[in-house]
Amino acid sequence: MDILKEIKEAVDKAIENYLYEKEPHLLYEAVRYLPSAGGKRLRPIIACLACEAVGGNFIKAIPFAVALELIHTFTLIHDDIMDKDEERRGMPSVHKKFGENIAILAGDALFAKAFETASFINDASVAKRILHNLAIMAKEICEGQEMDINFEKLDYVDERLFLEMIEKKTAKMFEHASMGGAIIGGGNEEEIFALQTYGRNLGMAFQIWDDCLDVIGKNIGKPVGSDIREGKKTLLYIYAYINSENKEWLKNYGKENASDEEVQEIIKFFEEIGAIDYAKKKAREFSNEAIKALNKLKESQAKKKLIELAEFAIEREK
Ligand code: IPE
Ligand code: IPE
Ligand code: MG
Ligand code: MG
Ligand code: MG
Repeated sequence: MDILKEIKEAVDKAIENYLYEKEPHLLYEAVRYLPSAGGKRLRPIIACLACEAVGGNFIKAIPFAVALELIHTFTLIHDDIMDKDEERRGMPSVHKKFGENIAILAGDALFAKAFETASFINDASVAKRILHNLAIMAKEICEGQEMDINFEKLDYVDERLFLEMIEKKTAKMFEHASMGGAIIGGGNEEEIFALQTYGRNLGMAFQIWDDCLDVIGKNIGKPVGSDIREGKKTLLYIYAYINSENKEWLKNYGKENASDEEVQEIIKFFEEIGAIDYAKKKAREFSNEAIKALNKLKESQAKKKLIELAEFAIEREK
């Protein structure tokens, strides 16, 4: 069987097993709702491949891989509340379906479950290192999400600050996925560092491409144009802001009740001014950096898959 399929099946099965609670019923229904709605499972897959790429068996990385997916799911639930998005993975978002209070609690419970799950890592000293890293990672995601929300109110954010924001809110999780997988797989420090670099750069590429999909995507399982209505300071916005003399387009940027036509106008403008091409180019650069970092690893099937994933991050349709 293809290794990706094997990993995905093992992760799905383990998610089901680790989310064993039943009562209170509504809480755990909300907890299971998003994990069982699918998703690409990219972070657990990367963690397992990194483990294999340094010579470990990916089964050892499963508790860690599931912990990452649970933290990811927690961030999605709370992110959709903050971003006021009512669709996720092609279904009503958790707060839309269960109400905000249950959604906040389901997110909190998933966050706690993640640490319970990670505590099942076998080797005690590895577990200690991983748990410490996961806690730091979670804190950094909060910092990045705060910056993201805070930037909504600003007219302009420079590119350096934007990159710092996406590094924290998104790239850190990918960085920790591949670094943690390498630690669990028994990689040496050089391999661990190479995979850490890979993950961070892939994460940067992934988020920049995600921001492109928010405007040019079709059937992405979440609302298109949401960043425009929310006033997000994406790379597209930053490029368009710097390169446009006429700032007429700004009047509808960040307008929550903007019509589809008004959103389409901004999307068209982003295309014409070259903002999307610019962001694609940046995403490509980060993806290339990610692939370059893998030069330090021995050839393997897992390494090949990691290279393919760095390509996938900037080509995916959802
Ligand atoms: C969505 O992540 C959140 C971002 C960091 C852009 P994914 O695109 O990996 O979401 P799922 O897990 O496949 O639904
Ligand atoms: C994703 O940012 C970051 C986290 C969820 C931590 P976005 O807000 O761009 O993600 P989507 O587009 O809602 O998936
Ligand atoms: Mg969002
Ligand atoms: Mg967000
Ligand atoms: Mg987005």
